[in-house]
Amino acid sequence: MMKAIAYQENLSIDNEQSLQMVELPVPKATGKDLLVEVKAISVNPVDFKIRQGRKPADGEWKVIGWDAAGIVKEIGPEVSLFNVGDEVWYAGDLTRSGSNAEFQLVDERIVGRKPKSLSFGEAAALPLTTLTAWEMLFDRMEVDRENDDKSILVIGAAGGVGSVLVQLAKKRTKLKVIGTASRPETTTWLAALGVDQVVNHRNKLSEEFAKYALEGPNYVVSLNATEQHIDEIVKIIQPQGKFGFIDDPKVLNVMPFKTKAVSTHIELMFTRSMFQTEDMIEQHNILNATADLIDEGIIQTTVGAHFGKINAENLRKAHALLESHKAKGKIVLEGF
Ligand SMILES: NC(=O)c1ccc[n+]([C@@H]2O[C@H](COP(=O)([O-])OP(=O)(O)OC[C@H]3O[C@@H](n4cnc5c(N)ncnc54)[C@H](OP(=O)(O)O)[C@@H]3O)[C@@H](O)[C@H]2O)c1
Repeated sequence: MMKAIAYQENLSIDNEQSLQMVELPVPKATGKDLLVEVKAISVNPVDFKIRQGRKPADGEWKVIGWDAAGIVKEIGPEVSLFNVGDEVWYAGDLTRSGSNAEFQLVDERIVGRKPKSLSFGEAAALPLTTLTAWEMLFDRMEVDRENDDKSILVIGAAGGVGSVLVQLAKKRTKLKVIGTASRPETTTWLAALGVDQVVNHRNKLSEEFAKYALEGPNYVVSLNATEQHIDEIVKIIQPQGKFGFIDDPKVLNVMPFKTKAVSTHIELMFTRSMFQTEDMIEQHNILNATADLIDEGIIQTTVGAHFGKINAENLRKAHALLESHKAKGKIVLEGF
């Protein structure tokens, strides 16, 4: 048996039963699966969205969490990329049991080698957000890494995804990087990550751009509150620019982009695994490439807070902070 943190009902996070420590059977690796002993996890907004909205079948426990670093304990018969004992990191698959458990099954094609220079906790901060940021920049918007020296605006840049996206944009492209933050601590955090200019998303973006004499951005990546910012994005983005978003606006009218012929890009980090796309091994490649960037000292971890051991109480605290929309970087938990 293994420890897991799970729920049966969709409850508010201040209810102790919203996330509980339970004992579940250890799964068995088959096919291309690795059985990973989870050493550290991080928490993402998708966790609380699922916890609030998806109820398991009566009597079943739902284990969520999609960010982990750990050690391969067992491999399925079709595994070719990893061996028992390898240290790995991954985000996982939204349609399968999550990483808030001592052991987890994950398809090797969406797993990478853990950076050697990071602890398990420092590593667990990164997989989901890195895959999202990388896929948005290079697979969806197709930023030319060598030749594109235009500018990018990242809205909600001090959160989990933004903290790695601004680093990839700064270190792996020639783009000028403008990030938004609204509080002193998130503004300082973004400056430390190397952005060229921080603007405040509580003010009108067009007024912030005028205040700092910034030219309208060629790329805009909206990570948070896209519905709230869309009119200002339409105003400031350059003609023939590219706009991307990753959050969940209820409705998003992109017609105002027509005059400027702005293209719209949606990124969902889970698409490749959910649909078992032919290129799902790209996530293995992205995680390995990022591990190299980290071990070379080019990209840094994005841990904003370490909440201690992996238990129900600490995980509930982490969900509560994320639900407040005031995260800075990532929250990690380490060791059962
Ligand atoms: N599609 C995908 O593949 C994918 C992947 C990852 C995440 N997501 C989704 O993308 C969103 C962002 O994820 P995340 O992990 O980066 O979230 P996060 O870490 O919770 O983001 C927190 C940040 O949001 C900023 N923020 C708060 N209110 C804002 C507003 N009104 N306008 C702009 N920024 C605001 C805060 O900045 P201040 O404190 O400075 O105000 C804070 O730094 C979530 O909805 C998540 O579910 C989607």
